[in-house]
Amino acid sequence: MSSLLVDNIGELVTNTGAGDGPLGIRRNAAVLVEDGLVAWVGPNRYPPPADRRIDAEGAAVLPGFVDSHAHLVFAGDRAAEFAARMAGEPYTGGGIRTTVGATRAATDDELRATVRRLHGEALRQGTTTVEIKSGYGLTVPDETRSLRLAAEVSEETTFLGAHLVPAEYADRPDDYVGLVCGPMLAAAAPHARWIDVFCERGAFDADHTRAILTCGQAAGLGARLHANQLGPGPGVQLGVELGAASVDHCTHLTDADVDALAGAGGATVATLLPGAEFSTRSPYPDARRLLDAGVTVALATDCNPGSSYTSSMPFCIALAVREMRMSPTEAVWAATAGGAAALRRTDVGQLTPGARADLMILDAPSHLHLAYRPGVPLIRQVLHNGVPQCRP
Ligand code: NIG
Ligand code: FE
Repeated sequence: MSSLLVDNIGELVTNTGAGDGPLGIRRNAAVLVEDGLVAWVGPNRYPPPADRRIDAEGAAVLPGFVDSHAHLVFAGDRAAEFAARMAGEPYTGGGIRTTVGATRAATDDELRATVRRLHGEALRQGTTTVEIKSGYGLTVPDETRSLRLAAEVSEETTFLGAHLVPAEYADRPDDYVGLVCGPMLAAAAPHARWIDVFCERGAFDADHTRAILTCGQAAGLGARLHANQLGPGPGVQLGVELGAASVDHCTHLTDADVDALAGAGGATVATLLPGAEFSTRSPYPDARRLLDAGVTVALATDCNPGSSYTSSMPFCIALAVREMRMSPTEAVWAATAGGAAALRRTDVGQLTPGARADLMILDAPSHLHLAYRPGVPLIRQVLHNGVPQCRP
């Protein structure tokens, strides 16, 4: 059993009650890692013996980011679509079909290379848990291989066969829902932990969403969904009713939507994806309204080639603070413990004995710098399952 001590931590974010404030901050702390897990957290002056040591030199140490919403299995490039949007074109979600065409045409190795590249990119920026969706295959074999490839790098895999009705089913969406709930789900379920639906005008309506999520739950998958991104709709309340772990986007909410989320008491998290509003030049969701109503909020990247091609959780934190009226502390919590809640995980998103030794050392004295110094590479070192990753 090898042990590793991270000491001289100026500010340790634990996200537990063992420290001060909502982030459970401990000053002048040390963390002992054994066998990939946190074995001990305590004051720097009494460190236990260890085989190896990393000196944090007074910097801040945080739990690794938990990015609970990403689409990393795809092929092709939609930079021209982004440029057209910046010139005034609206985002409709229709570009998903462009990526579906490119993804179906790609080889396994091409898709694997993209997943690994983006996974590595995220890890270097402090993300140690990332949920990965299928959703750019939309056939039984293409959805299944997307999930297989996602499962090579993450245990948080999500079946999103209901991302859009593919062109070949455009005039018979009920048949496509039948395919998703039948053979596609049967092939996908062994490779997935979650099922997701894009519940939106132009994608899947309330009846289809309910049918798909219910089938997925019966097959043992947990429910989550894309809801209320492009306009108001039934998704958020449906997600709460069906016990979804998370409803994601939440850009257009009525008072009844906010009440439903508040009434869920944290069982259904509101996951906000400000990279999507940035990249589609849309109004941001009102995080303050949700937080003031007592809703549990997570932040995630939505990394995908269309609406949000960023893998950077620090970028999302900075947007949330500047544009969504979150405090830096709330945003850091949402990007770590909030993401863990959205994935119903207690072994990540916090630094406490028994948790995974997933953490980052900043090139900064405090978590506040993640929003205070936007765009600056502040992640000095990342430990994933206790293993130090290469310096970025
Ligand atoms: O979460 N909204 C649906 N799905 C993605 C966008 C996918 C795309 O444009 O390719 C999202 O924003
Ligand atoms: Fe998404």
